Amino acid sequence: MQISRLRAQNLRKIRSLEIAPSPQLNLIWGANGSGKTTLLEALHLLNSAKSFRSSGFKDLVTHQENKFGVSAQLLDIDGEQRSVRVQKSEKATRIEVDGLAVTSAATLAQTFPLLLVDPHSFGIVEGGPRIRRSLIDRAVFHVEPEFISAARSYLNGLAQRNALLKTRQRSAQLDYWNHEVVSSGERVHQARLRCVEYINSALATETTLSGMLGRISLKYRQGWREGASLLEALERQEPTEWQAGQTMSGPHKAELIIQTEGETLARVASRGQIKAVVFLLMTTLCDYIRSSRGIRPILMVDDFGAELDDLMLGLTLKMVRGTGAQAFLTTIHSHLARNVSTSADTLFHVEQGAVGPVS
Ligand SMILES: Nc1ncnc2c1ncn2[C@@H]1O[C@H](COP(=O)(O)OP(=O)(O)OP(=O)(O)O)[C@@H](O)[C@H]1O
Ligand SMILES: [Mg+2]
Repeated sequence: MQISRLRAQNLRKIRSLEIAPSPQLNLIWGANGSGKTTLLEALHLLNSAKSFRSSGFKDLVTHQENKFGVSAQLLDIDGEQRSVRVQKSEKATRIEVDGLAVTSAATLAQTFPLLLVDPHSFGIVEGGPRIRRSLIDRAVFHVEPEFISAARSYLNGLAQRNALLKTRQRSAQLDYWNHEVVSSGERVHQARLRCVEYINSALATETTLSGMLGRISLKYRQGWREGASLLEALERQEPTEWQAGQTMSGPHKAELIIQTEGETLARVASRGQIKAVVFLLMTTLCDYIRSSRGIRPILMVDDFGAELDDLMLGLTLKMVRGTGAQAFLTTIHSHLARNVSTSADTLFHVEQGAVGPVS
């Protein structure tokens, strides 16, 4: 999937924007506060009706205005035109996909896969397990669309099971919820496992970054005792769970540990190295989506180059190009903008919320 035209009105500092991005690399260059991250927010809004920075409508709409809108024309793999549009006012959100109003923002996410690397992406390596679980889950969702219904059933079953456990009144109803949680939980686990296996086989052949940091891999802990089925784990833990009032095992407890040579990466790597590994993971996820579904994801990188030396910069840029994904990279550095652009790339300059191509 590729964005052939992007429009935004009254989004923060951007009063009116219309650009025709390159199908490959788009470099968005501008001073601090010029509106670069806002342009990425426009893309994110088209994918989820939400921003990745703040959820408040008042934060997003240009001061003194009462509504904002973003829209895009897309080209799918067969060259077919698609369109998405999101308009928001204080009280209402209108979402259109291919000219038809839709009620669920999940329909937007199904239209194109979008991956973001920004300064918060350090959390993928340094943060808690939830961040990594949700990263994998979002990628799996694009490759195995039925994953979303398994994940929803699991979370619903888990909530009901927890509500029952919280009563602390032992009841045979637990068997029913065990069954619900196990059937959806196994599907969630198997889908995650397929994704992790893809990533690990791709990482096993990566030589550049692993040449510096040692072999990088993902260790997947499924969230219950290895070697046991989920049902066995739940049954075994039943007495403790009645006491605790909550479910202590299952895919919601899964953990993904990013390792180098068996060591937890966050403990041994520098900031710049961690950032490079984030690029490696995100670009591997792009490949996973592309090779499994034939869909080219869209990759956004905010503050590209921050905290990276020239070697890492060249390396991460190579990774981004290697995905073949349409990429949107922001930077404050004019020299970077000039160095990285080739004839297939488009360089945009942002100034006071106005965006134009650089000749
Ligand atoms: N609702 C709003 N209405 C008008 N302007 C806004 C609104 N919200 C934020 N701004 C302005 O938008 C600018 C921030 O835009 P943005 O974060 O996209 O800049 P940036 O180019 O990414 O900057 P940096 O390089 O520092 O990350 C700030 O100048 C801010 O004052
Ligand atoms: Mg910014």
